[in-house]
Amino acid sequence: MPDLSGVEIRRATEADLLDCHRVWRNGIIGYTRPLGFPELPEDNPGVRRLHAHALSTDPGRFLVAELTNHAGEGRVVAFGSAVDRGPLWFLSMLFVEPGEQARGLGRALLERMLPMPLDERVLATCTDSAQPISNGLYATLGIVPRMPMFSLVGRPSPGFEWPGLPDGVTAERVADPVAWREGGELAAFDRFILGFEHPQDHRFIQDEPRRAFAYRGTDGRLVGYGYAGEIGRVGPIAVADPALLAPVLGHLLAAVEPRGASAVWLPGATDDVIATAIRSGLRIEGFPILAGWTKPFADFTRYVPISPGLV
Ligand SMILES: CC(C)(COP(=O)(O)OP(=O)(O)OC[C@H]1O[C@@H](n2cnc3c(N)ncnc32)[C@H](O)[C@@H]1OP(=O)(O)O)[C@@H](O)C(=O)NCCC(=O)NCCS
Repeated sequence: MPDLSGVEIRRATEADLLDCHRVWRNGIIGYTRPLGFPELPEDNPGVRRLHAHALSTDPGRFLVAELTNHAGEGRVVAFGSAVDRGPLWFLSMLFVEPGEQARGLGRALLERMLPMPLDERVLATCTDSAQPISNGLYATLGIVPRMPMFSLVGRPSPGFEWPGLPDGVTAERVADPVAWREGGELAAFDRFILGFEHPQDHRFIQDEPRRAFAYRGTDGRLVGYGYAGEIGRVGPIAVADPALLAPVLGHLLAAVEPRGASAVWLPGATDDVIATAIRSGLRIEGFPILAGWTKPFADFTRYVPISPGLV
């Protein structure tokens, strides 16, 4: 049994979020610095917003571990957050301060965050392929790495011809994203592609902000959607037919021209889309992320997730 004396595991509050950001950053630097990776910026507002989102949608699944020293002062040394979406339990974050790792804190947090009973739930997460501890820890729960995800960064070369949208498919900028996410169409499409709806995550993406685009067939029915933001982030993308993924990505890259580079997380299952992106001039950045799950859930030939921290 690990010795966790002096450690209290409790629900996080908004007041803990800056500490969680510190633990997140130190946890990453702890293994990327020895590998010679570039230093992370002091502040990562996108990650802070993701933490705040997970806390707001799933407060019972966002836990911190607080260590009290001899003087009675408490310090957050680890945290974990997970979100429940339909049958899916998705581990968004799990981080332990480097000095406190390998003493059972990560596993202890995880055990308290898991759904009980497990029943038919799907457990899933994304890990860094450069991190054997997280991959090993989650694999013992059956969350085995099954699919790489690549960060593709850059802009398509001016002369590159992306496959265009097929005849009969039109793209429209969603004029009223709030009404769209609260109406039935988007939820039905997500249930079809992902097996669950997640209007709360659409709200998060729209507030980032990223622009929403809907793709429709000749009969007006939704055949896909996608998001792109002016700071360059593209995704999520969902399409009814895998053959639509490359044209929709190409449309999004052209429709929203960011100030700098575009960036999208492409699942390994989207094979020809990755090939097209690389041929166009985008480049793989960093090591791949590994998506792991206990049972298959979404069809990643037709879905590009929001980020490694949120499906
Ligand atoms: C990953 C992390 C959260 C785990 O927390 P931790 O408190 O260090 O881990 P624990 O001590 O609770 O458990 C680690 C488990 O991984 C196992 N493990 C460690 N190295 C391993 C390896 N190379 N292969 C397989 N399993 C391994 C340990 O044996 C242990 O299992 P046990 O409980 O059966 O003994 C923590 O190390 C961390 O923050 N790392 C850096 C950031 C990170 O990668 N976070 C995850 C983001 S995906």
